[in-house]
Amino acid sequence: MQPYQEFLAEILIDEQTLQARIAELAAEISRDYKDENLLLICILRGGVNFLVDLMRLVSIPHQIDFMAISSYGVGARESSGSIRLTMDLVTNIRNKNVLLVEDIIDSGNTIASVLELLQTRQPKSLKVCVLLDKAERREVVVPIHYRGFEIPNRYVFGYGLDIDEFYRNLPFIGIVDLEKYVPPG
Ligand code: IMP
Ligand code: MG
Repeated sequence: MQPYQEFLAEILIDEQTLQARIAELAAEISRDYKDENLLLICILRGGVNFLVDLMRLVSIPHQIDFMAISSYGVGARESSGSIRLTMDLVTNIRNKNVLLVEDIIDSGNTIASVLELLQTRQPKSLKVCVLLDKAERREVVVPIHYRGFEIPNRYVFGYGLDIDEFYRNLPFIGIVDLEKYVPPG
């Protein structure tokens, strides 16, 4: 038995469903940015699984880059209004078509701050591709141009999303039973 079985309330999105939807998103992106430059920006660390699977299916030439942020305040399982850039991009995004690739939008605070920051660098366009949208929890309005799935207001893990930095490797999105959760090791 896998250690996560003890606190896995249910598999919300299985691997096959995830991959099928990612293929659809990649096809849409390939169509929309045809004959344009394209830079996919992954926000570390949660977006990494999604970026890797998505980019393999984007059929037009494109570049990738990474940035990392941390959010201040509140508990470890929520973000706050203020973020700090802990790792910046290498790429100069001026006149580039930037597509932000994120694992999940919850309150919307993280993506709103990142958009505000990147906009100051004058990209040609700036759009958002998110795998999971916890729409019920939204505190600030953020544009979503490509959305994988809308999900209920539950804490989820797997496929890039962590519980206390663990289980990002799992190929599915699971719902945590927080009462049964015990950290590994
Ligand atoms: P927001 O700023 O509230 O939109 O939060 C977005 C960030 O919070 C995501 O990039 C995740 O790192 C984290 N997050 C929000 N909900 C979950 C969840 O259900 N599981 C794991 N991480 C989450
Ligand atoms: Mg994240």
